Amino acid sequence: MLSLLLAGMMALHTLALMEVQVPDQPMVALYGQDTRLNCTFSAESPYNLSAVSVFWQLTDTKRNVYAFNYGLEQLKDQGARFANRTYLSPQSLLQGNASLLLRDVVVADEGSYTCFVRVQSYGSAALFLQVAAPYSQPVVTLEPNVNHRPGDEVALTCEAHGGYPQATVAWRDEGGHTLTDNITTSHVANEQGLFSLTSVLTVVLEPSSTYSCQLINPLLGEEGKAFVSISGQSTAFPPVALWVTVGLAVCLLVLLIALAAVCRRKIKESCEEARREEEAKELEEDESKTAMTPLKS
Ligand SMILES: *[C@@H]1O[C@H](CO)[C@@H](O)[C@H](O)[C@H]1NC(C)=O
Ligand SMILES: *[C@@H]1O[C@H](CO)[C@@H](O)[C@H](O)[C@H]1NC(C)=O
Ligand SMILES: *[C@@H]1O[C@H](CO)[C@@H](O)[C@H](O)[C@H]1NC(C)=O
Ligand SMILES: *[C@@H]1O[C@H](CO)[C@@H](O)[C@H](O)[C@H]1NC(C)=O
Ligand SMILES: *[C@@H]1O[C@H](CO)[C@@H](O)[C@H](O)[C@H]1NC(C)=O
Repeated sequence: MLSLLLAGMMALHTLALMEVQVPDQPMVALYGQDTRLNCTFSAESPYNLSAVSVFWQLTDTKRNVYAFNYGLEQLKDQGARFANRTYLSPQSLLQGNASLLLRDVVVADEGSYTCFVRVQSYGSAALFLQVAAPYSQPVVTLEPNVNHRPGDEVALTCEAHGGYPQATVAWRDEGGHTLTDNITTSHVANEQGLFSLTSVLTVVLEPSSTYSCQLINPLLGEEGKAFVSISGQSTAFPPVALWVTVGLAVCLLVLLIALAAVCRRKIKESCEEARREEEAKELEEDESKTAMTPLKS
């Protein structure tokens, strides 16, 4: 019956007298929120609700989004993903307003919607709905995060999640200059169609510098910004390296002390030995002297 109604509307297309108005510019809906697809019409004479037919469909696939006919909603043929998500005010229809409320917007709702209206005559118009979702606050990390020295090439990674559509990333240096070289940005969509963004900037490390990563959502404008400060001093001596250095130094010291003790003992021993030998020699000499004395007398 709806397709018959639609066919009838199509046939009347050339005779369309009624003006149906929708926004010219794409409408932007926030992910997870409700949005109103605006559609107004101007009927010439007073009419009853039962005389109004409204039909919303996806322009490309012709899938049924919402229908109102004979004074009632006709949701039998409604596309499954629009179930319980659409609302149209019958009272507003009497004021030339066929706007459709779409609840809990998802990424898949993005696209073109056609609003058909028939009262005495017939008209239609299509609008484009864009979905926008803000990204999470970006986070910048430094890879690898040990053993940086000025002159090293390091990768700065900026990550953010859950946004839509794809964002651009503006990397800036300390002076606020936008960097354009050695940047790779990629997007990965999750099941809901929302993007995770990863942007990698490769730089040659200077003794001390600050970089910022700013997300720009084509629909929502500037979003989160993150900074990373790299100081040659602290990155050259991250905690692990510092403790390893201290540990080695302590080991070396202990070793030196032990060595010194051993040496001292060795020196002392050899000294004693020498003295003992000396004493033994003296004793021998004495003995030989005393032994010889009786022979003399
Ligand atoms: C849609 O209609 C509402 C209410 O009439 C209005 O406030 C809003 O600006 C309209 N949106 C667009 C994109 O025309
Ligand atoms: C509106 O409906 C009433 C009764 O339901 C009828 O008497 C009247 O003629 C109708 N008006 C129009 C403009 O169709
Ligand atoms: C729509 O709502 C009705 C009543 O609240 C519920 O029984 C039905 O399962 C819902 N359908 C969908 C697709 O969520
Ligand atoms: C159309 O009707 C809806 C629901 O009553 C209302 O929120 C909206 O402002 C109306 N739009 C215009 C242009 O009157
Ligand atoms: C980009 O990387 C290349 C190779 O690592 C390097 O020679 C060049 O100077 C870099 N460009 C900038 C602007 O840092």
